[in-house]
Amino acid sequence: MRIVLSLGGSLLTGIFSSDNFVRYAEVIKAISDKGHKLIVVVGGGKIARDYINVADGFNASDFDKDYVAIKLTWANAALFASALGDYAETKINISYDDIVEQFNNCDKVVVCGGIAPGQSTDGVSAKLARAIGADIVINATDVSGVYDSDPRLNVNANKFENLTFDQFRKIISKNEQAPGKYGLFDLAGIDILQDENIDLLVIDGTNPNEILQAVLGEYKGTLISLGE
Ligand code: UTP
Repeated sequence: MRIVLSLGGSLLTGIFSSDNFVRYAEVIKAISDKGHKLIVVVGGGKIARDYINVADGFNASDFDKDYVAIKLTWANAALFASALGDYAETKINISYDDIVEQFNNCDKVVVCGGIAPGQSTDGVSAKLARAIGADIVINATDVSGVYDSDPRLNVNANKFENLTFDQFRKIISKNEQAPGKYGLFDLAGIDILQDENIDLLVIDGTNPNEILQAVLGEYKGTLISLGE
């Protein structure tokens, strides 16, 4: 399969340790060993939000906040590529064309971060998925799927196993789309995946093994598709 994995920065850097990077790297290696081709798009996590908060303090523009946060995604991506050792190139490409070229011309796992202001790494994942004709986008996040209300605030929230893109868009369209706050998925990214008929799987990646399970089709999260 051709897979784009949107790997939340909070997962990778929530516990900021070598061991945590290695836990995720081992899973990506196992997926690669099964013959799947992968682009891993690494998010910014807390450090990106810390930078955005400082920029907020002197009323920086959204463009500036996004611009700064992108650099932190690159740092996370470079560190993750290094943790993957021979499985990935150390060089982190920062344009869609270069990333796609790297994907097409190299058997290794491709790792990248953000690309342009006005979106999150989920938006990058959707655009790359379109460019490489991905079979699926896996969004590894810190909630176990899509709920009818925020499970961190409502213990009675219900999780959806399947959603159409239209239903998903309705649920997340209440989210603010701003630096550091793009929520569960980037709205522009949903449009792309719907247009291209590329399934989106939202899973709880706090246990990295869930990412491997998702690739094996044994996911516990929410599958978003055209539903036809
Ligand atoms: P993330 O993709 O990590 O954003 O990028 P997020 O959804 O806010 O955070 P997670 O998923 O909970 O970790 C971090 C920030 O980097 C900027 C945005 O400001 C985003 O919030 N960014 C990222 C861009 O401006 N453009 C990109 O292409 C990627």
